[in-house]
Amino acid sequence: MAKHLITSALPYINGIKHLGNLVGSLLPADVSARFFRQVGHEVLFICATDEHGTPAELAALEKGQDVETFCNEQYEVQKDIYERFGLSFDHFGRTSRPQNEELTQHMCEVLSENGYITERTVKQVYSPADGRFLPDRYVEGTCPFCGYEKARGDQCENCTHLLDPTDLLNPHSAISGSKDLEIRDSKHLFLQLPKLSDDVAKWVADKKNTWSSLVYSIANKWLKEGLQERCITRDLQWGIPVNRPGFEGKVFYVWFDAPIGYISATKEWSDIDPDNRDWQDWWYDADDVIYTEFMAKDNIPFHTVTFPACLIGSGEPWKKVDFLKGFNWLTYYGGKFSTSQKRGVFTDQALDEFPADYWRYWLMANAPESSDSSFTFDSFAGTINKDLNDTLGNFINRITKIALNNFGEEIPSGGDFSAEEEELAKRLNTLIASYTSNLGKLSFRKALADLRSIWVEGNNYVTLTEPWKVVKTDKERAAVILRTCFNLMRIFAVLSYPIIPATSEKILASLGIATENPGWISEDTAAELQTIKGGEKYTPLEPLFSKITPERIDELTAKYGKEETV
Ligand code: MF3
Ligand code: ZN
Repeated sequence: MAKHLITSALPYINGIKHLGNLVGSLLPADVSARFFRQVGHEVLFICATDEHGTPAELAALEKGQDVETFCNEQYEVQKDIYERFGLSFDHFGRTSRPQNEELTQHMCEVLSENGYITERTVKQVYSPADGRFLPDRYVEGTCPFCGYEKARGDQCENCTHLLDPTDLLNPHSAISGSKDLEIRDSKHLFLQLPKLSDDVAKWVADKKNTWSSLVYSIANKWLKEGLQERCITRDLQWGIPVNRPGFEGKVFYVWFDAPIGYISATKEWSDIDPDNRDWQDWWYDADDVIYTEFMAKDNIPFHTVTFPACLIGSGEPWKKVDFLKGFNWLTYYGGKFSTSQKRGVFTDQALDEFPADYWRYWLMANAPESSDSSFTFDSFAGTINKDLNDTLGNFINRITKIALNNFGEEIPSGGDFSAEEEELAKRLNTLIASYTSNLGKLSFRKALADLRSIWVEGNNYVTLTEPWKVVKTDKERAAVILRTCFNLMRIFAVLSYPIIPATSEKILASLGIATENPGWISEDTAAELQTIKGGEKYTPLEPLFSKITPERIDELTAKYGKEETV
């Protein structure tokens, strides 16, 4: 038994996440947490909302709310959606909680004591009318390259040129519209990444065999290009205050405090029940912990270089990531999912259309692991109809019908295994070993192909043994076959639990088996096929899935759009 610490990249607070966000970090982290719990490891699965920074302020502004109210509301909205998706966090915290403020300030202090933080004055746009410094993107004006009148101070959305606010013609505040803008001096803190570069490179080199080539090569590309010092403070109101003289009214840059949120959310968890939980067991001098992070590829540099650099620079024995699962992009009909343009299917909408397990199954079966993958409603319907409805669902329906008609609501007893059952056990044994190994290696698409093959074995066994015929001539033999099928149902439910937990629970409950952490299937497959002995009562299941029709696909594409490019 090992201690597995699992974190998903912290979803940003500025709005409801789309399916790409879900499959790029939250969902695979949950699948792994469930799997490791089932095989008997001690798991701590931590997540939180990432709440600071300009995008939160802008989103609040757009909604006409103050940023704190906005974050409070959006935290509850996201938390509720994740619960409905079955995400089994041990704790879902917030980077705006006091634990994160305390730890972020502490990190800055120790980094500073160790000589990795310097102060420097920079020139910045100040708006007297707004009474504040304006981040680059809060300054709007005319693009000097294309003449677009609503270009932002960091970039022109129209021609994509990168800009400085001072490049803009006719610059004004995006908040108040005021044209009275000044350039003022402002003091900031800079993290001296160049000084930490050798230590980080050494630490990364050790990961050559544990990280995937995607992750390892992104980390090394950054290191090779040479690390630059990074400004870790901002002239904003919303964020964690910088507690040093001369820094009144300034906060830490969101990317400085967000990853510290992994640790402080764990502290939130232990502060709830301090007698029985200790966050330091997981984070401080915690060599016995195996730490796995899940994220989309744009987050990889921060997690392989910048954040580890902070932890190393602190000189304190903080736990650093062991395994890092990075994902490519899920596209929507080949184009981008876009939060700002509301393109694609968002997590709340997804749950309005279909049960969580449909989405969980499709997303994990098509996870963008080794390349991007594309969501389309045709693909979604195809997979759900074929795998969930026609394979898993159909197996259970067939068995339930024959058993009910011939043996009532009791699992048939009597008789012994024949060659067909021995053969089934052998075939399943290989598939289950592969499935287990692939889940352990976080190879999700391969794991899901194995799971599908395991379900197929169930249907093949029924087709081969023909219990509907046998029952007319040899009731004892039919009892063996059907009882074996009930055992298959149990095995399918246990193995499917990381992926489609709600469905698994329904199957287990119908068999009268406890549904909280159903454990795993041992290597003695023949014994597993005879766990249910016969004579037990069961509750017949209604069909678990329903097919998605072509008409429904048309409705969905009309509603959510399917144009190929943005
Ligand atoms: N909120 C960031 C994003 O959505 C991820 C932050 S991960 C953290 O891309 F570790 F920094 F918190
Ligand atoms: Zn432009």
